[in-house]
Amino acid sequence: MVINWYPGHMAKARRLIEENIKIIDVVIELLDARIPLSSSNPMISKMIGQKPSVLVLNKADLADTAVLEKWIAYYRQQGRIVIALDSKGGKGIKSMVTEVRKLAAPKLEHWQKRGLKTRSVRTMILGIPNVGKSTLINKLSRSSVARTADKPGETKGKQWVRIANQLDLLDTPGVLWPKLENQICAYRLAATGAISDTVFDMQDVVTKLISELSVHYPQKLCDRYKLDMLSGTPQDIIEHIGRKRGCIVSGNLIDLEKTYKLILKEYREGKIGEISLDRVEDFPIKGKI
Ligand code: G4P
Repeated sequence: MVINWYPGHMAKARRLIEENIKIIDVVIELLDARIPLSSSNPMISKMIGQKPSVLVLNKADLADTAVLEKWIAYYRQQGRIVIALDSKGGKGIKSMVTEVRKLAAPKLEHWQKRGLKTRSVRTMILGIPNVGKSTLINKLSRSSVARTADKPGETKGKQWVRIANQLDLLDTPGVLWPKLENQICAYRLAATGAISDTVFDMQDVVTKLISELSVHYPQKLCDRYKLDMLSGTPQDIIEHIGRKRGCIVSGNLIDLEKTYKLILKEYREGKIGEISLDRVEDFPIKGKI
């Protein structure tokens, strides 16, 4: 089944970002550390344009460290400022704020020279759904100095969170939907939970996931589901897992639906281990960046 999903409010969301970004000094672009390529949207780069930006690889706690290191090197080579982050646990937040501050420094200096000492640098978070934007905003809000009121005039109706001295974060993130033209990316987005479960075929996604895991992470799969070895097709492995985990219906048949759900849930929660799906080596087959 081909995954095809274009929510109607996409154009509106895009317009909203374009409007907000005008008043932003530094952009925080969030990607899913497990699938940086699949969770990116080329439109975001266009919208950021020449503005300084920090690329945040979020959910780093769920990603394979070795693969993540390669991604960090890859983006740094492209001149990007990259931070690996665990928004839920908070690891990496300080480094991220430091990087944003560094990018903001020239503006602050410039304003100071002109006597505008009270002006703060404004930042906003952009990313696809489920990448962790709200989690990050909440984390920053909780550790923030204060929630600032509307800045009258130019930013009417907007709420800002002061995340450091002279550094404000717009509390509404910019949401953009991923491009689903590439079916490998689409399946990986589905596997990680970035696209709604109602628009993809679960059997298809779980079969592809198991197929990839059995190539790149066979030991993790065996350990999690207490399998002696991986044999047969991905469907055989799924059935084996179903049996091991007691997903059985009358007639001693495997409850496949339940097994698919279980695997997907456990993968998303990181219970199978730290696993990355996008690899730097995938780049030529995607042609996505
Ligand atoms: P969004 O605003 O970009 O749509 O994403 P949101 O913050 O709602 O996060 C989506 C899910 O990802 C949430 O899980 C959230 O807890 C989880 N998440 C966000 N950042 C991280 C991270 O760095 N590491 C890990 N492991 N998880 C992260 P959920 O199951 O939908 O909600 P909850 O039960 O965790 O609250």
